[in-house]
Amino acid sequence: MEIREISNNKEKYMDLLLLGDEQENMVYKYLFKGNLFALFDGDLKTVCIVTKEDKTIYEIKNIATYEKYQGKGYGYYMINYIIENYKNKCKTLLVGTGENEKIINFYKKCGFKYSHVLKDFFFIKNYDHKIFEDGKQLKDMVYLKMEFE
Ligand SMILES: CC(C)(COP(=O)(O)OP(=O)(O)OC[C@H]1O[C@@H](n2cnc3c(N)ncnc32)[C@H](O)[C@@H]1OP(=O)(O)O)[C@@H](O)C(=O)NCCC(=O)NCCS
Repeated sequence: MEIREISNNKEKYMDLLLLGDEQENMVYKYLFKGNLFALFDGDLKTVCIVTKEDKTIYEIKNIATYEKYQGKGYGYYMINYIIENYKNKCKTLLVGTGENEKIINFYKKCGFKYSHVLKDFFFIKNYDHKIFEDGKQLKDMVYLKMEFE
């Protein structure tokens, strides 16, 4: 298993990135300014994009594992790799997600703590259609954070 940083032909990973963020123009907002990481175990399993938001703040913008490979530990492996890579580069690592309990619990298990919520804002203002997950419309953006010293 290996994780590589991808600098060229980032669009090639769009199918998987759309699993983590279903609107393509939203992915393009951070695809080129962010650092793209791809996990290979034989073939591609998981991708993740991290952006610099401020001098001391980075943010995980997207993480996704192909559906048939989910639940096999690739997500944890990727997040731990990101934590190891960024803990000396910043003070805060943020991640934002819809109000999906499973995903929020996934980040909490990885060591993230609740930070703040953007109420009724993110998904309604930025997406051209309503986004549903597990039958529930996503409205708020929940932020979790990890602080390094
Ligand atoms: C979130 C995600 C990246 C996790 O990746 P993964 O490779 O499945 O991660 P892991 O195998 O390390 O599992 C992490 C946890 O998520 C759970 N999980 C993984 N896939 C799941 C699924 N399809 N449904 C429910 N839970 C799932 C695992 O059970 C595990 O929890 P546990 O430790 O309590 O058992 C993956 O589920 C995914 O791609 N989801 C769709 C895209 C998405 O929503 N991205 C987040 C955007 S903020």
